[in-house]
Amino acid sequence: MAMAKPISIEVWNPSGKYRVVSTKSMPGMRWIRLLTDNDCRLEICTEPKTILSVDDILALIGDRCDGVIGQLTEDWGEVLFSALKRAGGTAFSNMAVGYNNVDVEAANRNGIAVGNTPGVLTETTAELAASLTLAAARRIVEADQFMRAGLYDGWLPHLFVGNLLKGQTVGVIGAGRIGSAYARMMIEGFKMNLIYYDLYQATRLEKFVTAYGEFLKANGEQPVTWKRAATMEDVLREADVISLHPVLDKTTYHLINPERLAIMKKEAILVNASRGPVIDEAALVEHLKANPMFRVGLDVFEDEPYMKPGLADMKNAVVVPHIASASKWTREGMSTLAALNVLGKIKGYPVWGNPNQVEPFLNENATPPPACPSIVNAKQLGLPSAKL
Ligand code: GLV
Repeated sequence: MAMAKPISIEVWNPSGKYRVVSTKSMPGMRWIRLLTDNDCRLEICTEPKTILSVDDILALIGDRCDGVIGQLTEDWGEVLFSALKRAGGTAFSNMAVGYNNVDVEAANRNGIAVGNTPGVLTETTAELAASLTLAAARRIVEADQFMRAGLYDGWLPHLFVGNLLKGQTVGVIGAGRIGSAYARMMIEGFKMNLIYYDLYQATRLEKFVTAYGEFLKANGEQPVTWKRAATMEDVLREADVISLHPVLDKTTYHLINPERLAIMKKEAILVNASRGPVIDEAALVEHLKANPMFRVGLDVFEDEPYMKPGLADMKNAVVVPHIASASKWTREGMSTLAALNVLGKIKGYPVWGNPNQVEPFLNENATPPPACPSIVNAKQLGLPSAKL
């Protein structure tokens, strides 16, 4: 094979029959073992640059490649999917639950399965959203900087006064897996009331809040309540804390815009651990400047890895670098699911029927089921589904 590649790689199981490429090194060893034990030659890109270009990935795919594990920082469209098809490939998996970086129609046209990694990051991501909420409410980052700057010269009644969450209302926009887990944490942990907006009714979440409210009442405490809002605006107007958990698509781009910021409470807390472009970030910076008591916790940014001008100077913003899914267990699990999506497609396995129940794939002490854990275009490609 003539493959004069400018891109540096590390090779596992060189004599494997199927060639699988991972555009990044990923946590854990299990995903590597699962591939190499199943006759895959695995090539892991070791290039030090963080974000690979389409040309870099074309070079990695080369002229024979069965499947690729890629990252949310990469632009997976017609160019890459047609190259993968030409190289004999049929499988791609994002190492992420979100796949707005993937043009699924281009994958469909080229007959490439697109995997994602749901379920394993639900709680980890919700915990980070909860962390951002607390950090913003209690001004943790500002206070930490104040300490380190040597500015603390004694207790004061006014020092870093923030918001009490108990008894306030948490607003969730997008009550899917992650939004519902976040809501439960805030309700159960901090006894907040819930208002949510979603096209689908979050029945289990509603039942939980009702039952928890009954429990509190039986203990002589103020019960918590829930409300499903008819419009997103209702959530923005009523909630003290608002956390965004939609998918990013045309309908959710700049969901938070100047008009919607204007109807939020002046002392509200806004949290985003979904995707950056859900917020008009330049408008948010203006809003933060005009409303010093309005606080925001951001894990994601409109132009990652960059922040819009001015955001870094805002004391009322807590910012972290897209780490919501970054717990060891979750990242190792995401690596496993992504590898099994690719492996399963290569082996012709059916697609697992329930992306909410991926535990059987994550048991370190058992052989994973012979199935692809989560393929988002299974229907479009007519892939068979596994009997649960
Ligand atoms: C991370 O952002 C993911 O979508 O998994």
